[in-house]
Amino acid sequence: MKIQIETKEDFEVVYEVVQTAFKNAEHSEGNEAELVVALRNSLAFVPELSLVAKIQDKVVGHLLLTEISIGENVGLALAPLSVLPDFQKQGVGSALIKKVHEVAEKLGYPAIVVLGDPNYYSKFGYEEASQWQIQAPFDIPSEYFRVCFLKQQGKKPVGLVTYAQEFGIG
Ligand SMILES: CC(C)(COP(=O)(O)OP(=O)(O)OC[C@H]1O[C@@H](n2cnc3c(N)ncnc32)[C@H](O)[C@@H]1OP(=O)(O)O)[C@@H](O)C(=O)NCCC(=O)NCCS
Repeated sequence: MKIQIETKEDFEVVYEVVQTAFKNAEHSEGNEAELVVALRNSLAFVPELSLVAKIQDKVVGHLLLTEISIGENVGLALAPLSVLPDFQKQGVGSALIKKVHEVAEKLGYPAIVVLGDPNYYSKFGYEEASQWQIQAPFDIPSEYFRVCFLKQQGKKPVGLVTYAQEFGIG
């Protein structure tokens, strides 16, 4: 499996991968593929943080991180993460998350937030955000809104999270 930065040539197949991954997902808004398209055109987009997982040159997974505010600081949000059903539970999601953490750390971001399954994301160092004084901009049981701090010199960011307007929150 190869993890690569998404290129223009991947856009069409990524749309299919995201749509297919979320078709039978437990939690889906039904608009995740469109959200990826919108986010690529937003100010929050960072090209190095849109990754694809390829097996034998076929895209089987995709992960996107975009810029957010955490209080006064810039951070990142992980959304969406998509793996084709036939390739799930084989480590593709893990590989995408581990790689994106490396890239985000090199770029100097302090933290990544995610709205997602606590059992899944805790494997990758995501802790309940509320215990670190980081608040979601929506009502959600606190265990679902999580944060992972990347290695950095400065202080941990605190405060209310503001997503890119493309998320349609608030
Ligand atoms: C969630 C998803 C991205 C996971 O990808 P994946 O490639 O199957 O995950 P991995 O194989 O890397 O799994 C890593 C670990 O998490 C576990 N895991 C996988 N899916 C899980 C789930 N839905 N809930 C809890 N744990 C899960 C695996 O068993 C594995 O555990 P292990 O390391 O102890 O063996 C994938 O199932 C998917 O695309 N789902 C539909 C879309 C979706 O819900 N995305 C997440 C929205 S935030």
